Amino acid sequence: MVVNKSNLYSRLQDLRKQIQYHNYRYYVLNDPVISDYEYDQLYAELVKIEQEHPEWVTPDSPTQRVGGLVAEKFEKVQHPLPILSLSNAFTKDEVQDWFERIVKLNERVREADFIVEPKIDGLTVVLHYQDGVFQKGATRGDGIVGEDVTANLRTIKALPLNIPVSPLSTLKVPKSLVVRGEVFITLKDFEELNRLLEEMGEKTYLNPRNTASGSLRQLDPRVTATRPLTLLTYDIVYIDDNSPKTHCELLERLHDFGFPVVESRYCANLREVFKAYDEFLERRDVLGYEADGVVIKINDISLAQQLGAVGKDPRGAIAFKYPAREVSTQLLNIGVNVGRTGVLTPYAILSPVEIGGVIVKQATLHNFDFIAQKDIRIGDIVLIKRAGDVIPYVIGPIIERRDGDEQVFEPPSTCPVCNQPVEHLEGEVAWYCVNSACPAQIVRNLEHFVSRSAMDIVGVGINLVEQFVQAGLVSDAADLYHLKKEDLLKLEGFADKKADNVLRAIANSKKQSLTRLIIGLGIRGVGEVVAADLAKRFKSLDALMSASLDELQSIEGIGPNTAQAIVDWFRQPRNREFLEKLRKVGVWPIEGDVEPEEGEQVFAGKTFVVTGSLQRFTREEVKNFIEKLGGKVTESVSRKTDYVLVGENPGSKLEKARTLNIPILDEAKFLEMAKGKG
Ligand code: IVH
Repeated sequence: MVVNKSNLYSRLQDLRKQIQYHNYRYYVLNDPVISDYEYDQLYAELVKIEQEHPEWVTPDSPTQRVGGLVAEKFEKVQHPLPILSLSNAFTKDEVQDWFERIVKLNERVREADFIVEPKIDGLTVVLHYQDGVFQKGATRGDGIVGEDVTANLRTIKALPLNIPVSPLSTLKVPKSLVVRGEVFITLKDFEELNRLLEEMGEKTYLNPRNTASGSLRQLDPRVTATRPLTLLTYDIVYIDDNSPKTHCELLERLHDFGFPVVESRYCANLREVFKAYDEFLERRDVLGYEADGVVIKINDISLAQQLGAVGKDPRGAIAFKYPAREVSTQLLNIGVNVGRTGVLTPYAILSPVEIGGVIVKQATLHNFDFIAQKDIRIGDIVLIKRAGDVIPYVIGPIIERRDGDEQVFEPPSTCPVCNQPVEHLEGEVAWYCVNSACPAQIVRNLEHFVSRSAMDIVGVGINLVEQFVQAGLVSDAADLYHLKKEDLLKLEGFADKKADNVLRAIANSKKQSLTRLIIGLGIRGVGEVVAADLAKRFKSLDALMSASLDELQSIEGIGPNTAQAIVDWFRQPRNREFLEKLRKVGVWPIEGDVEPEEGEQVFAGKTFVVTGSLQRFTREEVKNFIEKLGGKVTESVSRKTDYVLVGENPGSKLEKARTLNIPILDEAKFLEMAKGKG
């Protein structure tokens, strides 16, 4: 075939249409119909034709998405109509009030239906199309005049450069069309971008909104092109022909032109609006982008227009905001906590501020590196986030709001509690107080020892532990087992019953498993999982105490740092003394008393009968032990009995077992079985 010029030109047009359509499938619908390879082929062919015929290049060609020049400043754009804002409501009552107000202005509102959409926390953009070709786009600015960010907008792949996008569409193209939408970045892309920026040693963004506005307002479109911005549209500001009657119809039209359109819910009345709000709020975290509320819009466009506006806010729509999760407040000071392992953790002392119905006065600052990286200074206005159950944390400083009085924070060189020098481990971000006699560590260690995941001493928590330490009754966990009733009765808030309960809970904890005791020791890096592995492998504290670095490292999941921390811990004379104290008070689990893992209970479903006296257990203890491993203990031997455990001087139960042919275990055999070898 002879390729003549007009053939080539129609091929070029065809390629542009195809590429635009595949962009739409990929960036708007998330549903590509060709492979990346095929797409690249089409794109390369278009580039080649345009190189041969530069006179054919137009600004709406897909190759021109990153074609703009670096600007000195943004030109101004006059909006065709004022770009209005929205008034806010924070409660259902406030929405109800809005409704009553507009019903008073126009009785027809009472019967009105609504559209509810997520309120995307991005940046308004106003997009101009002439005969279906994207001409220019602007930011909102003051609502009358915005900034021309056309070159930057072209880099957003979800933005159609030509409409209608679909080659199959029969929709009439309006001569002039102005569309409003929101430019934003998805949460995933935001995190990824910040990770990349951090890797390159560049300044990170505070939140997605900030990122969208910073990226769209770059003077160099090539920078914008590297930012994963995207777009959703929700309004037609101007159309010269056949304008939609309802908002519902409007969204459909946008969709049919090929615009990415915000999700929406049709609501026949206010009750349904509230339901839609609840649903969107519940899905807040799965939307993929930050939404700070919903927008409620009267569906009937002419009715909405008749209602007019109050200043910049139209009456026919309202933003129903979600409880805030991010607020700014002043960082008054930085405090330092000393944790159980001596780790020093900085926290923010804030000018109190409400976030989602809770007054926040403190927030975590993660670690000292974080403070340095984010250049957080005392006196800064900082952004705080509190979402769900997460402890409030500082996102970063708002640099623009500095007044010069802010103080750079220096991490302490000594422990704020015991004043001993602090240490830094190679390769770790944390600073540690290594003085194990530090009072802060004693309290934290005790708190950890009694906690639910460790020795689970019910009724003894941080307050009691502090009370014991302050009164000088306890300086390590072993001392708990020496507490006497008369000591407790001297303490504030202790009466007879409480003292008895506390002492009983402490005494009961002597029966806890080896796993729990290992957790309770509070060795750096040894949590529930590692403790379970250690207990399973070493079977007794005596064996663990003399484990070598190599032995420890050979256990899967235990790295060199944790292995070293374990060896160091057991080597410290102080800890050795502590262990001896535990042994003396009887907190020394018998060999193999490992916390059973789920599905790993060796006595699961088995019924035991015990007779005679055992060497290593009292009756109560052996019952607990068997039960912990999934078994059951009954009083008398029957055909349902699986094993009879026999100690010294057994009774008639042994005889009965023999007659019924039930397996008889001595203590040694029983312990073997408990270890899973039986
Ligand atoms: S409608 C008159 N719908 O929220 C029409 N706005 O606080 C007013 N926004 O400036 C806008 N998502 O930037 C509308 N689904 C949505 C929206 C939305 C986000 C932004 C928009 C507006 C701001 C008002």
